Amino acid sequence: MLEVSGLAKSYPTPRGELEILKDLTFTLAPGEAASIVGPSGSGKSTLLYILGALEPPTRGTVTLDGVDPFTLGSTELAVFRNQRVGFVFQDHLLLPQCSVLENVLVPVLVGPADEEAPERARTLLDRVGLVDRMDHRPSELSGGERQRVALARALIRQPPLLLCDEPTGNLDGAAGDTVAAMLFDLHQQQETVLLVVTHNTGLAARCPIRFELRGQCLERAVQ
Ligand SMILES: Nc1ncnc2c1ncn2[C@@H]1O[C@H](COP(=O)(O)OP(=O)(O)O)[C@@H](O)[C@H]1O
Ligand SMILES: [Mg+2]
Repeated sequence: MLEVSGLAKSYPTPRGELEILKDLTFTLAPGEAASIVGPSGSGKSTLLYILGALEPPTRGTVTLDGVDPFTLGSTELAVFRNQRVGFVFQDHLLLPQCSVLENVLVPVLVGPADEEAPERARTLLDRVGLVDRMDHRPSELSGGERQRVALARALIRQPPLLLCDEPTGNLDGAAGDTVAAMLFDLHQQQETVLLVVTHNTGLAARCPIRFELRGQCLERAVQ
């Protein structure tokens, strides 16, 4: 369960505080999916960074299954980010010198040993249609295939929260639709809370909950 209460974010500037987010409150249960739309610069990425514990809020709280990551010490916070949150960005951010399988296993290189991770990686790669490409390098894949590897990597720790920031932003329509379909398949199978920032109407339409960031506030529409 993701619970956000009174969340606000501002950045200090020489001309005073730049207010990005103002008093956001919402709750999402496991298995729920929400899209976030809003104009460029409205704070969509900032919101995801806060929810993923990469950036602290100025005010308010975020809890995931009852844990507020911003109350944790630095070691516990690193464990929280590694085990509780999966991120997919617009750029795949794969390591070019590593194989597809190694890239999926990168999050497992830090933190506790996880002997079942290689088998889970194969299962995830099977679900994104890349089990035959496990030994390939990212440079040997198409843009859509690279994003599918990034999706498998985001889920290797089986995180309860999956955050996607324009995951199809660099892809053409057909490749974007494939990534969107696989994203939803995995989200439903793993029962994550899913938040996806997207301009892709097909991807947004798959989310039963729609958020729009407007004037520093979040408006919610349920389909
Ligand atoms: N570290 C920072 N310091 C100051 N301003 C920032 C910082 N990060 C983002 N911003 C500002 O916050 C606003 C929202 O940015 P962002 O969350 O990236 O928007 P979006 O993802 O909706 O395009 C922008 O005006 C941006 O310039
Ligand atoms: Mg952004």
